Amino acid sequence: MRSVLVMLAMVATACQSRPADPDLARELAGAYPVEAAPNGTVRTFDIVAAATEIPMLDGAPLRVWAYNGTVPGPTLRLRLGETLRVNFTNRLPQETTIHWHGVRVPNAMDGVPHATQPPIASGESFVYEFTPKDAGTFWFHPHVRSSEQVERGLYGLLIVEDVVPPPYSRDVTWILDDWLLAPDRQIVPQFNSPHELGHDGRWGNVISVNGRTDTRLRVTSGERIRLRLLNSSNGRIYVPDLAGLDAKIIAVDGLYTREPLRLERFELAPGNRLDLDIQITGGGRSLIVSDVYSQRRVNPLAEIEVDDAVGKVVAFASPARAKVPVWSAALTMPVTHEFRLNARRGGPLGIEWTIDGKAFAGHEHAHHAGLVLQRGTWARLRFVNDSARLHPIHLHGMFFKVLARDDVAVDEGFFRDTVLIHGGESIDIGLVPLDAGEWMMHCHILEHAEAGMMTMISVRDGPGPEAPRAGSEKP
Ligand code: C2O
Ligand code: CU
Ligand code: CU
Repeated sequence: MRSVLVMLAMVATACQSRPADPDLARELAGAYPVEAAPNGTVRTFDIVAAATEIPMLDGAPLRVWAYNGTVPGPTLRLRLGETLRVNFTNRLPQETTIHWHGVRVPNAMDGVPHATQPPIASGESFVYEFTPKDAGTFWFHPHVRSSEQVERGLYGLLIVEDVVPPPYSRDVTWILDDWLLAPDRQIVPQFNSPHELGHDGRWGNVISVNGRTDTRLRVTSGERIRLRLLNSSNGRIYVPDLAGLDAKIIAVDGLYTREPLRLERFELAPGNRLDLDIQITGGGRSLIVSDVYSQRRVNPLAEIEVDDAVGKVVAFASPARAKVPVWSAALTMPVTHEFRLNARRGGPLGIEWTIDGKAFAGHEHAHHAGLVLQRGTWARLRFVNDSARLHPIHLHGMFFKVLARDDVAVDEGFFRDTVLIHGGESIDIGLVPLDAGEWMMHCHILEHAEAGMMTMISVRDGPGPEAPRAGSEKP
């Protein structure tokens, strides 16, 4: 396995075209691996996407699109070092792909139609195979017409366990999603409505946890549980409130934090994951976990019931002790690229969401990179939200760290793959891409993405040309 330092030295000498900062890049060394380390074990899963009916919400049959007949789809679990093989078949009435959100996969496995693979036609199959490089909580979903396909129910978790998982008494997963149901209690079949496009995407009228509105977790005092949260909604932001529980954040977007963090007001935007370490104390009580994103309205999410019985106290050190660079010199470095986020009238949907004045003109044509980065070279990217709406910006194939919000330096103590940018806000991030390829960057409010808020970041080995001006002109 090639070491990070060797690779960084190589890149530092090769790249003259932009200011490289070897010190900042070196600070990342060892934070997470450059290469996968397959141990020879292959875990094979068969997944079929198809329209089906599930008993849901109030028990009535709900027509959905599902992976293997359930919403959420199956949770795929493997250990770090194992190879995942997914034999996927598309029985939907549309083409599709699977994207492995947050996983550093070989580019050809990233599931971006026309860019990393041809879309999988109805009736066709495709084999996804890769060895994850990082342990953590990831998820998978289609990358074709995602505002419709994800909303109809296509998503599932991919959990990569540590080689030696910490001895939690339980590993619990909660997927938060919302549904916009019509008076007939079926999914409103008009997707990308002007209201959804012009605001913060589709916000539903029913919130579910693991596809249910009555999720209840029974625990025993003394237990220590790992709770993995995912927001799979198209647009809704959640702020989970576990009032009355001793909950610490141990991982964000898959990767462990530098140290356990108190769960305060954490905005879980579409795509974000949060791993919580919860020490259960005080038997004989029941708690409501709620979403307090909106100050005006508290949404109950699930119930936790603590038994009277006192179980054995599980004591072990928190797994949250990752190497996360401080990058204190980061804000003295020039901005590598500033992305401007905005909207305008026009385009096939009547409104276009733009990055640097360009709307992604459909996967079929637009593959010019909006930005070229060098593998192993530290970069500072700035997002300026010129609109009043929310944009959770997601990068494929790399983790980044937030450096500043509105020019005020922050040290979050963890990496992300998705960061929420509020109306008018500007956010600076730092990153060192370690995986070469054509990686998508987009807003994870899926209606915004469908209306153009997507671009490609090309990560190249060795010196490359400057970022071409072309973002995505129409042919
Ligand atoms: Cu979950 Cu391209 O995203
Ligand atoms: Cu992704
Ligand atoms: Cu957006």
